[in-house]
Amino acid sequence: METQERADEGIAWMESFADTWENCNSMLYTHNWWHIALYYLQLENYQKVLELHDTHIWEYANKQSPKDQVGAISLLLRLELRGVDVKNRWQDISPYIYSRINEHALPFQDLHYVYALAKAGHHDWLNQMLQSMQYHTLSINPFLRRSWIEVAIPAARGMVAHAKGDFNTSVAELKPVLSRLHEIGGSHAQRVLFGQVYQDAVLSAQKQSWNYAVS
Ligand SMILES: [Fe+2]
Repeated sequence: METQERADEGIAWMESFADTWENCNSMLYTHNWWHIALYYLQLENYQKVLELHDTHIWEYANKQSPKDQVGAISLLLRLELRGVDVKNRWQDISPYIYSRINEHALPFQDLHYVYALAKAGHHDWLNQMLQSMQYHTLSINPFLRRSWIEVAIPAARGMVAHAKGDFNTSVAELKPVLSRLHEIGGSHAQRVLFGQVYQDAVLSAQKQSWNYAVS
C-alpha cells in the first residue's frame, strides 16, 4: 500500500490492528508504527509523524535495540528531508549508538548509525565507527568483504557527507552504489531512504552552486 501511495487505506488497515500489538516485543511494535508513520509522511502530516516518533516509536523503543534505533533514525532523517525541524531528537538517540560502533551486524544498520552520530555532532565516535568499518572488512569472508568495501563504506561516506552538508561529496559517494544497495540488507521500504538522501544531495548541491554563482 505504501509503495502504491494508498496512504489512507494503509493507515485505516494498520491502525485497525494496533491494539493487538500491545504485547509484541518492542521491535515489532515500533516497526509497525514506523510503517504507519511512513503513510503520514506520504500525506505530509509531519506533526503526526513527530507525534508517532515521540509516542509509539522512540518513546516506546527498547533503546538498546538496533532495530528500534534504526527505525527512529530513519524517521528523523525522512522528516528532515522534508524540511521538518526535529529539534534535539538526534541527541536523544545518539548516546545509545555508542555501543554499536564496533558491532557491524548489518551494513544497512551502520549507514543509519553514522548518520545519527554525524547529525548529533559526535565526531569522535563517528570517526571511530568509520575506521572500525574499514577494520571489520579484514575479518570477514571475501564475498561479504566485497559488499562492505564497494557498497557499504562508500555509502556510509555519502551519508555522513549529507549529514554534514557536503552535498557534492555525498552525490559522488552515493551515486555509484545506488544500484547495489540490495547487497547491504534492509527491506525495500527501509532502503528507499538512501535514494531519497541521494536525491536531496543532488538538489542541495545544485542549490549550493547556484548560491555561489550569484553571490
Ligand atoms: Fe517492514
